[in-house]
Amino acid sequence: MNKIVIAIDGFSSTGKSTVAKQLAKKLNYIYVDTGAMYRAVTYFALENNCIGEGFFNKEDLIASLERIKITFKFNEALGFAEVYLNDKNIESDIRTLKVSQYVSPVATLSEVRSKLVEQQQLMGKDKGIVMDGRDIGTVVFPEAELKIFMTASAETRAKRRYKELLERGDDLTYEAVLENVTTRDHIDSTREDSPLVKAEDALEIDNSELTIKEQLASILEMANQIILK
Ligand code: DC
Repeated sequence: MNKIVIAIDGFSSTGKSTVAKQLAKKLNYIYVDTGAMYRAVTYFALENNCIGEGFFNKEDLIASLERIKITFKFNEALGFAEVYLNDKNIESDIRTLKVSQYVSPVATLSEVRSKLVEQQQLMGKDKGIVMDGRDIGTVVFPEAELKIFMTASAETRAKRRYKELLERGDDLTYEAVLENVTTRDHIDSTREDSPLVKAEDALEIDNSELTIKEQLASILEMANQIILK
């Protein structure tokens, strides 16, 4: 069967990963959460004092990049691949508001981007992959057979993220989450290297009013039309 690359880009907390994960499962494809890779670098930067309250030692982080090894290992029980930094499982550590607050500045660095993009392209070289992020359809796989661009209002996204973080047991306010979502949107879409923009040939889905089931059904139908052609 014809294997394809499916690129899912969009603003933060649009539910890209939820849909991408389920899509990959249905198609028996690999799923790669590229946001997790930028979060892993940010986690490393925080742990090694390259970034923190009021400072960002970019040169230190760039010089340390060769010490950063990011891998994914499939977790049968969870049904998706968890992210590892230098062989340590950091899947849960990278989902905090703190990492979310520092990840966008880290993701502006071209040295970080080129390292991660190279790894992402290798992971998708045999196709049969669903990858989500900000620049998948524009930079990582500009030739992807199916490109989706997901949007939803900032309030809808912040509400979803707030609920998720509360369920994890994090102590925070809705306002702090909304502020993080809008700040990241701004940095991600205005950075110089690979800004978040909709690829010309991407299909835009505003999922403010759509259930996950509805989104999955429509993307799956589009994918099958290409795969079964
Ligand atoms: O998808 P996410 O919210 O976990 O991504 C975290 C951050 O990583 C996001 O705010 C910007 C950055 N990112 C990026 O620049 N390029 C990608 N392909 C994926 C994420």
